[in-house]
Parts: sequence; C-alpha cells; structure tokens
Amino acid sequence: MTKVIGVLSGKGGVGKTTIVANLGAALSYIFKKKVVLIDCNVTASHLRLHFGLYDKTAFTIEEVSEGVVPTNHSFHVHPSGVKIIPAPLALNSKMDLKKNAELVKNLANSCDIVIFDCTPGLGREVISVCNAIDEALIVTTPDIPSVTDALRTIIILEKLEKKNYWNNFKQS
Ligand SMILES: Nc1ncnc2c1ncn2[C@@H]1O[C@H](COP(=O)(O)OP(=O)(O)O)[C@@H](O)[C@H]1O
Ligand SMILES: [Mg+2]
Repeated sequence: MTKVIGVLSGKGGVGKTTIVANLGAALSYIFKKKVVLIDCNVTASHLRLHFGLYDKTAFTIEEVSEGVVPTNHSFHVHPSGVKIIPAPLALNSKMDLKKNAELVKNLANSCDIVIFDCTPGLGREVISVCNAIDEALIVTTPDIPSVTDALRTIIILEKLEKKNYWNNFKQS
C-alpha cells in the first residue's frame, strides 16, 4: 500500500524542500523504495532545482491537477531512482491544489511512498495537503516564529486525526 507523507512546517525557509529532496533520494537509492516526490509550491517551485530541472518541463503538478494521469514516462527520474513531479516555473499558474487527494489516488499502487513538499503558511493549499496525507513530517528551526507555526500545523493535523511524529514523541 502506498504511504503518503507531507513535509510541513507552517513557516517557510526552514528546510522542507531540502529534506524532501534528500529523504526521497535516500529512500529510493539506499532503501530501494519506489518514491514519488510532488512539489506543491507553485509560486516557489524549488524542488525541481535540487534535481537539475531548470528548464520548462513537459509534465508538472499542473497537468496532474487538471486530470492527466501520470504514466511511467511522465515522471522526471533522478539517477537515484526517485521520481519527481515538479511544480511549474511560470508565475501565472492557475492550478487548483484542492485536487491533491485525487492526485494521490491516481498514484496509489504505482509506488511505495509519495512525499509532498508543502507550501509555507496554513492556507487552503496546506489544508488540502493535510487532507491527502497519511502522515506528516513537521520541520522547524529553533526560533519562536518557526516553532509557533509548527505547533499551529500540529493543531490542524490533530483536528484532522492525521498521524504526525510529534504525537509519537509526546507518547514516548
Ligand atoms: N540542515 C540545514 N542546515 C543549514 N541550512 C539548511 C539546512 N537545510 C536547509 N538549509 C538551507 O535553508 C534554506 C531554506 O531551505 P529550504 O529547504 O528551501 O526550506 P523550505 O523548503 O522550508 O522553504 C536554504 O538556503 C537551504 O540551503
Ligand atoms: Mg520549499
């Protein structure tokens, strides 16, 4: 069964995208998992840059959100084996991120793990990712604004009854 993980933070600039890129490559290359990384950050599509996708690409999350079901040829595959669905580079994207859950449904069974690189903030886009995931990995830096937003993210996840590693930590 496919496990869907969201990397969330609330505040931006805390290391989410860096973690998604490295976690994805490690799970794929070292642990031999079939991993798909999805960049949800339409206005700052940085995940692709970590994998050298600097130019306009034929297939992005925009196409997926418009209902195009990805085939094996749609993904950008890194030498580590990790598959990437980048966000578009264009600034005028009108993408509807509320379709994340459907998007995940289309990917289910074709991979072991889906990891969403989430947008900062706690707006509708983030809530839609929270709805689509099984588990969350919350990233923060050791400063009060980042920790505050991480805690606010946890409150949202707890309301949605999503597993997050803060809960595991509190219980241990
Ligand atoms: N573990 C780390 N130690 C120091 N700097 C880091 C670390 N992880 C990420 N960074 C740096 O922090 C900045 C923000 O990282 P990024 O992954 O883009 O954050 P986010 O996706 O949360 O906005 C980048 O300049 C990145 O190189
Ligand atoms: Mg980022």
